[in-house]
Amino acid sequence: MKMWEGRFKKELASEVNDFNSSLPFDCRMYKDDITGSIAHAGMLAKCGIIGEDDGEKIIQGLKGILDDFESGALSFDSDAEDIHMYVEQILTQRIGDVGKKLHTARSRNDQVALDIRLYLRRSAEEIQILLKELLTVICNKAEENVNTVMPSYTHLQRAQPVTFGHHLMAYGQMFRRDIERLRDAYKRINIMPLGACAVAGTTYPTNRQLVADELGFFSITENSMDSVSDRDFVIELCFALSLIMMHLSRFSEEMIMWCSAEFSFIELDDAYSTGSSIMPQKKNPDIAELTRGKCARVYGDLNTLLVMMKGLPLAYNKDMQEDKEAVFDAIDNTSMCISIFTKMLDTSTVKPAVMHKAAEGGYINATDCADYLAKRGIPFRDAYKITGGLVGYCIENGKTLNSLTLDEYKEFSPVFENDVYTALDLSTCVSDRRSAGGPAPECVKAQIQSLKDFISD
Ligand code: ARG
Repeated sequence: MKMWEGRFKKELASEVNDFNSSLPFDCRMYKDDITGSIAHAGMLAKCGIIGEDDGEKIIQGLKGILDDFESGALSFDSDAEDIHMYVEQILTQRIGDVGKKLHTARSRNDQVALDIRLYLRRSAEEIQILLKELLTVICNKAEENVNTVMPSYTHLQRAQPVTFGHHLMAYGQMFRRDIERLRDAYKRINIMPLGACAVAGTTYPTNRQLVADELGFFSITENSMDSVSDRDFVIELCFALSLIMMHLSRFSEEMIMWCSAEFSFIELDDAYSTGSSIMPQKKNPDIAELTRGKCARVYGDLNTLLVMMKGLPLAYNKDMQEDKEAVFDAIDNTSMCISIFTKMLDTSTVKPAVMHKAAEGGYINATDCADYLAKRGIPFRDAYKITGGLVGYCIENGKTLNSLTLDEYKEFSPVFENDVYTALDLSTCVSDRRSAGGPAPECVKAQIQSLKDFISD
């Protein structure tokens, strides 16, 4: 029996019921639904729309239902159409006809908009906490590696010397912006839509601000049609999650490369890597690969939401029920990836000697050599050309810049003196790069401090 059965002469076909039902996935909003209903019932009573006693009975009934969901005494095994109908149905079973007053001055259209906002604002907060844990691990590892020289890459070719700490802090900045994006999305999630009712508000003397205050919303939505029409805040959150996944996916890709024999910059902990069913020697970075893979799935969720909304006329349309599985999937997978990635990174071992060796090859101090000449009066373009000749000479003769004799240097320019060796020493190359945001240890320490301040803010 449906709550809306009055108008209908036939029972709903059972496959339509299954097709229509969102209970299997919106049941996870039970707490939000009940919390919202308690605030609504309180408002109805305060505004004199229902009696004080009735309001109290409804609130107590709802609290009992919440306890029973929480303890497992009540299950979600029902043919109810959605969590909203289900809660109301149990309420009326338990407290009788007074339960039927709860839905006064409300519709499921504004109810679901409220529930999803309550759910998403909690998720946005939880994901910020997970990101802060990841940032803490990044800061700690960066701190341990402010002097660990490694090559930076452009086009995946060795470029210039940096440190592992500096490299890690680049990701630190990305995840920091991800937190800022979540905070920003939160501002638009945390607006209270209840009271818009089906689409056109209500003739009852409701007080929407009261509900907003009770539930800790920043303010109320300003247009009843907009309140039940849009899911832009769901999409915004999903976009923020997509960028988190993009950053995690790029970091994963690097971890995968770094733990290959060819790089061998890091080693994953046994507890955070897997074996092969046939190749006994293998130690696979499955977590990083799955994270990279799940990024595609979260992008898919974002795309689902964007496409779902693009052609909908105002106001509510049932298509919008599809928002939940997409955004829940994005939330679940992003949360899971952040937390397991954090542990994988935390337990990984860095190999500074291998990183240093990689930095010694590839002439990554060539820019420093050109700078050496330029700082001694040779125009940079000429200095660049002289250094290019030196690198060519090294390649032909199987040498590195640091292993050339001073005479060899002087063949290319009389400006070279003994101090060229210190200037081209990898640790000098790093420590001299003191421009703000650069890889010099003191600069990276400043970056770490700034990020730590952000985390504890
Ligand atoms: N289960 C619906 C959803 O998730 C709730 C709103 C339904 N409203 C309606 N008039 N059918 O969007």
